[in-house]
Amino acid sequence: MNIIFCEDYEEMSRKAAAIIASQIILKPDSVLGLATGSTPIGLYEELVSKYNTGEISFSRVQTYNLDEYIGLAPTHDQSYAYFMNHYLLGKIDIDMSNTHLLFGMAKDIDQECQNYTSKLSSIVGGLDFQILGMGHNGHIGFNEPDSKFILDTHCIELTDETIQANSRFFGDTDLVPKRAITMGIRPIMNAKQILFIVNGSDKAEMLERALFGDVTPSVPASILQMHRSLTVVADREALRVVEQLHPEQIY
Ligand code: F6R
Repeated sequence: MNIIFCEDYEEMSRKAAAIIASQIILKPDSVLGLATGSTPIGLYEELVSKYNTGEISFSRVQTYNLDEYIGLAPTHDQSYAYFMNHYLLGKIDIDMSNTHLLFGMAKDIDQECQNYTSKLSSIVGGLDFQILGMGHNGHIGFNEPDSKFILDTHCIELTDETIQANSRFFGDTDLVPKRAITMGIRPIMNAKQILFIVNGSDKAEMLERALFGDVTPSVPASILQMHRSLTVVADREALRVVEQLHPEQIY
């Protein structure tokens, strides 16, 4: 595990973008796992600007998103499909047939989960790079705290904590969908490399537990300790507790 210290959100976004841009330069047909939420917005803006200056091209890149709310159409401005289009996919030269998103309006959610699991398992060698943020309760994707790690794509009841945290995007807790579909732990852990980005003091305790506490499904991000190539890029605030307890671990 490498923990890269950043002064603030902007530096975290720049360093994270440098890592993903290098990946695309070294392997133009990279397969990327993408996250949504507030954390990667700056990273995606940096990648769009590197595309605009001709530094990188996404023409051969493939993407797989982590999750989607059940009941939101891709045209809904809080759906993750809309988010991806708005912040990244609609602004670069990616072939849209190489982008893979979950469909929150699927009539048969179980079938949607199975189809996504099959698509993910057909990627030879697994995802090249999985980008992850972390929820305040330690979730990755929408793999919420549980009594076991769920390996494949599944439907999940969002916890009250997640609904509360995400109400900032919807304006009202009642408007936040109560269920979502998420990639499971298997394709995340099978990814060749993981970029874990975390910012803000409100995640500092959970980040320390995730990286140095017990590996347990009650802190889903703790499984990342077992990954062969984990890079954590986090800001000073998020690293507050890690810095106090494990200063030697920070790069
Ligand atoms: C979303 C996702 C979630 C978020 C997490 C943090 O695709 O994977 O795990 O990364 O909820 O969200 P923010 O970044 O909004 O704090």
